[in-house]
Amino acid sequence: MSKSAELAALIRDRAGPEAPEYGLILGSGLGHLSSKVDGVAIPYDDLPGFPHAGVSGHVPQLVIGQLEGVRVAVFGGRSHYYESGRADAMRLPLEVLAALGCQKLILTNAAGSLRPDIPTGGLMLLNDHIAFAGTNPLIGEATDARFVPMTDAHDVAIREALLEAAAAERVELPQGVYCWFSGPSFETPAEIRAARTLGADAVGMSTVPEIILARFLGLRAAAISVITNMGAGLSDESISHDHTKAMAPLGAAKLETVLRRFLQDQAR
Ligand code: HPA
Repeated sequence: MSKSAELAALIRDRAGPEAPEYGLILGSGLGHLSSKVDGVAIPYDDLPGFPHAGVSGHVPQLVIGQLEGVRVAVFGGRSHYYESGRADAMRLPLEVLAALGCQKLILTNAAGSLRPDIPTGGLMLLNDHIAFAGTNPLIGEATDARFVPMTDAHDVAIREALLEAAAAERVELPQGVYCWFSGPSFETPAEIRAARTLGADAVGMSTVPEIILARFLGLRAAAISVITNMGAGLSDESISHDHTKAMAPLGAAKLETVLRRFLQDQAR
């Protein structure tokens, strides 16, 4: 049996056989939503090969259960390329999600904004991305399946449903392009200007590898950024991981409102 099939069997033993309808991956400072799911929590430590609690602000557990009437699998934390140098760090968790029979994924992250009209504390729905980190999670994949098309990689139908949920809750949800930098150092002001020139609206250190892997695994995916700061050089505020964690709750409340409404709409 493959490792992902083994882990999926272990998870089914504990959480029951029903396939989750949505996977949710929570970003820095956004992990608390996993504690609001009515279900079974499985620490990543019980899931061999799952990422360790490498980054503060993440909650390293998988929770499977009901949220607003929908069966979800919530990953309270993720691994980043900068932790290991491996862009495919989230491949196993996503393979397990697919092995559980889940077909849809929502990713969240903390990001820096490049647009004055997308302020700190706000949200941005990714409508496309730029992989600027110079690597790809499918490097080393030996099959022709590695040649994954990336047009509409940010699923149009899921995005529309998220936009409707946000509008219904009167939460601003502008769409924009997310540019993936490797981190862990933040960008220089020159890099932020370059990203802007290239067409980016926000910058961050995650999500793009997972979108690529989701596509590869046949999962439909969409992602929302919580803006924790303006990009380097665009404002006087400090940029640090502490700042990210301190500012994440501002947008996290809006994110939770949108996600809950979105799930309610799906449950109908
Ligand atoms: N840059 C990269 N990643 C981030 C930022 C940023 O400004 N803010 C939160 N995550």
